[in-house]
Amino acid sequence: MRAVVYDRYGPPEVLRVVDVPVPSPAAGQVLVRVAATSINLSDWECLVGSPAYARIGGLRTPARRTLGSDIAGVVESVGPGVTRFRPGDEVYGDNLGLKGGFAEYALAPEPVLARKPAGLSFAEASTIPQAGAIALQGVAGAGPGSRVLINGAGGGSGTFAIQLAKGLGAHVTGVDNASKLDFMRSLGVDEVIDYRADDFTRHGPYDLILDLVAHRSVFAYRRALAPGGRYRCVGGPVPTVLRVLTLGWVVGRLSGRRIGMLAVRPGPAHFGPIADRCAAGEIGIRIDRTFALDAVPAAVAHVGAGRALGKVVVTPTAG
Ligand SMILES: NC(=O)c1ccc[n+]([C@@H]2O[C@H](COP(=O)([O-])OP(=O)(O)OC[C@H]3O[C@@H](n4cnc5c(N)ncnc54)[C@H](OP(=O)(O)O)[C@@H]3O)[C@@H](O)[C@H]2O)c1
Repeated sequence: MRAVVYDRYGPPEVLRVVDVPVPSPAAGQVLVRVAATSINLSDWECLVGSPAYARIGGLRTPARRTLGSDIAGVVESVGPGVTRFRPGDEVYGDNLGLKGGFAEYALAPEPVLARKPAGLSFAEASTIPQAGAIALQGVAGAGPGSRVLINGAGGGSGTFAIQLAKGLGAHVTGVDNASKLDFMRSLGVDEVIDYRADDFTRHGPYDLILDLVAHRSVFAYRRALAPGGRYRCVGGPVPTVLRVLTLGWVVGRLSGRRIGMLAVRPGPAHFGPIADRCAAGEIGIRIDRTFALDAVPAAVAHVGAGRALGKVVVTPTAG
């Protein structure tokens, strides 16, 4: 089969397409013929090896040679002990542990997969598992009239988070670069901030801040929060994340706010509900572009350069 591999951290140019044997599923594993794989920021982070947590399991060289977590496709075969799936089933899921979605076939542990809703294409389904789980958990607690700010709202998780928060009745401010402001407006956001021109922590106060790309100090986050408000970050440079986990907790407690990290719970129980709402037409899926397997370096570069409006999807096989 054809697979996109890399052997060292670096820019998209370190990725190359090679022929490798089709893997065999071990006990508890499912072999998926991959129809679509959406690109997440976590793929970019594992490609370049930054932030440092992207090197967990592979400090000097990548732990997994083939990236691609959010897969959708057809079950080719199953390993011993697999009970929920059989060949021919249409599945999707976040294969963050094994990855391998930038290939014609990928192995995934049975628990990470769910049956694809019939109303979604493979490409659509592949956009949901990681970004949907982050968004759903990230906006938990928002409600009618609550002031929600989403930093990095023009990306994959933000696209879902804006729509979910609006659906809960919140007043939503989206922060991203200038080229994504109209895109965020098209998703229903009430206010936009260009992060390169303005500092969102000088606005507010907000009852809930979901930070997809944390870069500021905990004191700035406290300033932007209303009393009783909550700040959740899901990613960012390691020093920032560590400060949120330590100092943020203390500063939050002392000021009557909550400042912390959201450890996103993965799996079908967490992305299934949002996929069902997408299939029902309640939440829109935005796909910027699809790329063939050979074009994975260009696809990843497109995401890394910040040009994507919505999700970028790779289609290793025709489905
Ligand atoms: N906590 C967990 O368990 C967990 C699990 C999986 C993933 N994650 C994390 O969750 C996050 C998911 O992000 P995603 O997939 O939605 O990423 P994404 O699609 O790349 O979106 C991120 C957006 O943030 C924007 N951005 C970059 N720097 C910014 C800044 N300083 N201020 C405001 N916006 C900025 C980007 O725009 P540009 O084009 O300008 O860069 C992009 O539009 C990642 O940080 C990932 O590491 C966490």
